[in-house]
Amino acid sequence: KVADDQLIIDAGQKHFGPVSCSTCGMIYSASNVEDEAQHAQYHQRLLESIHFVGWKKERVVAEFWDGKILMICPEDAKYALRKAEEVRELVDAELGFQQGILSSSRIRTYLYVTNDKKIVGCLIAEPIKQAFRVLAEPSSPEIVSTSALERHRAWRCSSEPQPAICGISRIWVFSLMRRKNLASRLVDAMRSSFIYGSRLTTDEIAFSDPTPDGKLFASNYCRV
Ligand code: ACO
Ligand code: ZN
Repeated sequence: KVADDQLIIDAGQKHFGPVSCSTCGMIYSASNVEDEAQHAQYHQRLLESIHFVGWKKERVVAEFWDGKILMICPEDAKYALRKAEEVRELVDAELGFQQGILSSSRIRTYLYVTNDKKIVGCLIAEPIKQAFRVLAEPSSPEIVSTSALERHRAWRCSSEPQPAICGISRIWVFSLMRRKNLASRLVDAMRSSFIYGSRLTTDEIAFSDPTPDGKLFASNYCRV
């Protein structure tokens, strides 16, 4: 009986279960027509959005062996602003944020561009006056803190606002490039370029409404 079932299944498809696209990172079922179509659409759009042609005027704020970080300001050329907007839309779709235009007159966008001309990271910063500190969780030594638990924990904030200078309204790194320090480099670059001639301390920056990934990154980053 078991052998029969296997025969039927084996005769069907080559791929079972989810596969992960090595280019766009999407996990989908290759044996499902709808899933495959959705992947094709996402794949195409992602490649278009992260493609970087290179600009005549680029404000490079940091350089690395594998790429560079550009800063885009509201007064920059239309093509630069359009690209920043396109990347933000991609990020917002991934974060499930409502699409909408940021009050764009004061925001700065930082893009991490690789040597092979792909935008693999984005940070959007805006001036703020105050922020609420995320409070440390009460320790519960009997529970082993697995990352799954960590991700589902709600966090508490202080009720007293503290002065701050720069709010990070979005931070995103392309899924296949995470845990390579790119987000840290983006925040470093922002801290040394947001205000001309001075470097912001970690107390002067704040992450707005962080996702679980964002919070894990932020609490690690701000510790250093
Ligand atoms: N889980 C646990 N620790 C993490 C995680 C994570 N998912 N991400 C970062 N860290 C910690 C680690 O300690 C890491 O150091 P390690 O890799 O040596 O252990 C350290 O932070 C530095 O991480 P980076 O490599 O600099 O971070 P990365 O480039 O991977 O980007 C980011 C982090 C931007 C949060 C990425 O995971 C991402 O794009 N996620 C999806 C989008 C998202 O949720 N963005 C945050 C939204 S909140 C906001 O925009 C204000
Ligand atoms: Zn793909």
